[in-house]
Formats: sequence, structure tokens, C-alpha cells
Amino acid sequence: MHHILVTGGCGFIGSNFVRLALNRLDDCRLVNLDKLTYAGNLASLAGIEADPRYVFIQGDICDSELVGRIFRDEKIDTVVHFAAESHVDRSITGPAEFIRTNIQGTFALLEAARQAWIDPSIRCRFLHISTDEVYGSLDETGRFTEKTPYDPRSPYSASKAGSDHLVRAYYHTYGLPALITNCSNNYGPYQFPEKLIPLMINNGLQGKELPIYGDGRNIRDWLFVEDHCQAILTVLEKGEAGETYNIGGNCEKTNVEVVELVCGIMDELRPDSPYTPHSSLITFVKDRPGHDRRYAIDATKIRTRLGWQPSMTFAQGLKQTVAWYLENRSWCESVLDGSYRQYYERMYGDR
Ligand code: NAD
Ligand code: TYD
Repeated sequence: MHHILVTGGCGFIGSNFVRLALNRLDDCRLVNLDKLTYAGNLASLAGIEADPRYVFIQGDICDSELVGRIFRDEKIDTVVHFAAESHVDRSITGPAEFIRTNIQGTFALLEAARQAWIDPSIRCRFLHISTDEVYGSLDETGRFTEKTPYDPRSPYSASKAGSDHLVRAYYHTYGLPALITNCSNNYGPYQFPEKLIPLMINNGLQGKELPIYGDGRNIRDWLFVEDHCQAILTVLEKGEAGETYNIGGNCEKTNVEVVELVCGIMDELRPDSPYTPHSSLITFVKDRPGHDRRYAIDATKIRTRLGWQPSMTFAQGLKQTVAWYLENRSWCESVLDGSYRQYYERMYGDR
């Protein structure tokens, strides 16, 4: 029986992972430690609380005492570490929280694991969930491999790079059985509606402008969130301690392409909307400072060594995602509280 600590399980990817893990792993206890920042929402795990294998603890990963107690009381042998400040735009306007949670918080977890996991007969694993953004920005050619040198360019990616280095240091110095995954952009249900795809769906529904930064030709490599979560389970099961695995969707799209596809699906699902065609709402706005031009993942290693590959096409996944946001208005409304409205006004004015 595995005793799993999931950090950040009320966020976008974490909540999708908790649901998948409880579905797939019969023999486990799953502790979800989440601070419930603006990005964490209990509504994303509605119904899960009733599962006797699951427990939620509201708390901060930087709180070493709390984290140490959870390791001891819950006999944690597996960590899946999602908790982070994750939005590049917020890291530009307020970097301090990114340094605290992403670097100091990861350090607190690593220390707790190092102190708790002294019995070598127990199989322990510390899986650190990271991003392709640590590798920097690509021109038109090439893809990120696990050997690409780190070159982070935003406070978000720099803080994630710092946390990755700490995780590797704990493997090499203390023999902590740590693994790292670096994944490309995720999309799907339960993503906070300030990230590109849900923001466009939400604005489109309300007839608000669809703000595309700069010339809209920046490229991201999109992966459906459930495929990412499946990859994480695969790495937990078959990955080798000390190794890094890149995870990607092999699905490069410009931002303009993505937004036009979202608009087309909204036109199809909401033909009577007064805002059809939704693409008429597209507006080009001031670019993000230091906006990375292109990300693309080479996922050969996880495919050939662990046998994982994405199962969802972008067309299917995007349609499922738009439909989910149209059907789950109460979830969107519950996460968009006053603090988010202030953030939106700071970012985009009162568009
Ligand atoms: P998210 O912002 O949706 O969720 C983050 C969660 O962490 C929230 O529930 C929040 O309440 C919690 N949290 C934040 N600070 C905390 C703290 N100090 N203590 C405890 N909990 C805290 O993020 P996400 O998109 O689900 O990303 C999860 C992880 O995956 C992050 O580490 C991110 O860097 C990585 N990642 C994300 C993407 C993506 O496209 N979203 C891609 C690759 C990697
Ligand atoms: P985002 O969802 O913030 O993810 P990341 O910056 O981690 O890749 O943004 C995805 C892309 O969409 C990125 O190139 C920035 C762009 N973007 C816009 O053009 N307009 C927006 O309103 C947002 C939020 C993002």
C-alpha cells in the first residue's frame, strides 16, 4: 500500500491527478496538502472527500513543521509535488511569492523527505513536477531534450529551475530517490481561467475581447491534462530515481491558431450566441515582457523507455475542454472571486 503526499492537489493538474490516481491505484492512501491560494479550489475535487483513501490538509509547503508531521503521521513513502505559483504573468508583477513557494517550499519538502526516509528497505519516490519553460526559448527549429541546458527567462521559470536544481542536488548528495518531469503547456478541465485557453472561452462567452499578446505567433506545445497525469503515474511506476523525463504533446500551435480553434468550437457549440463568430472578438494587445517565442518538447525518452505517449488529439481535447467550460459555469464563477477581478483589471484594464 502506497502512502502518497500530493502537494497542490486543488490546482489544475493536481486535481486531475488526484482523481486519476484514486481511480487507478486501489491500494493507496492519498494526502493532499494545499494552501488554497487563488489557484486552488476545493470545488475542483467535489465528491472526492467521501473516499476513505483520501484526506485533505490545508497548509503551506513552506511550513517545515507541518510538512515533517505529515511525513511522520501519514508514513509518506511517495511525494508528487505539484504545488507552485504557476502563472508567468503573475511572476512578472509579483515575483516574491514565486521564490518563496517554488524554491523554499520545495526545499522544505526535500528536507522532510530526507529526514523521514532513512529506512532503505522501503521503496520511496519524490516526483517533482516541473515545466519545459526552464529550458528557455527556441527559435524556429529544434526541440527541448533532457540534456538541453537550462536558460530560464521569467521569474516563474527561474524559480522552477531553482527547484529542479535542488531536487537533483538531493539525489546526488543524499541519495534521495528523486525524479523530475518537465512538461509542456497543459490544457483541459479545471484550469484557472486566467491561462490562455480558459480565458478565451470565458471571455468569448461574455462577449469580451480575446486579448492575444504581441503578434500572436508565439508557439506552445499543447498536452491534454489527463495525458500528463497518465505520464506522471507511468513515471512513478516505472521511472528510475535520479532521471528526468520530458513530457510533451507533439502538438505545436501558434497562439493565434489556438484562439481561432477555440472560437470555431464555440461557434459550433453556441450557434445562437450574439457573439458568433467569436473570432471577431480577437484583439492584439501589448506583448508580455520577455515573452518566450517557442517551446517544443522532444518526448522520445519517456516514449521509448517507459512506453508513454499522449492519447488525445488536440481537436478532440480542445472540443472536450470548451464543452466542459460551457457546462461548468458554476465552477468558473466560484473560482473567479474578487481577488481575480482585481488581477484582471491590472492586466488588461477594464476591457
Ligand atoms: P495551479 O496554479 O493551477 O495550482 C497550484 C496549486 O498549488 C494550487 O492548488 C495552490 O493552492 C497550491 N499552492 C500554491 N502555493 C502553495 C503553497 N505555498 N503551499 C501549498 N500549496 C500551494 O498550477 P498547475 O497548472 O496545476 O501546475 C501544477 C504544477 O505543474 C506546477 O508545479 C507547475 O509548475 C507545473 N506545470 C504546469 C504546466 C501547465 O501548463 N499548467 C505545465 C508544466 C508544468
Ligand atoms: P499561458 O497560458 O499564460 O502559459 P505560459 O506562459 O506558461 O506558456 O500563455 C500561453 C501563451 O498564450 C503564451 O504565449 C502567452 C499567450 N497569452 C496571450 O496571448 N494572451 C493571454 O491573455 C494569455 C493569458 C496568454
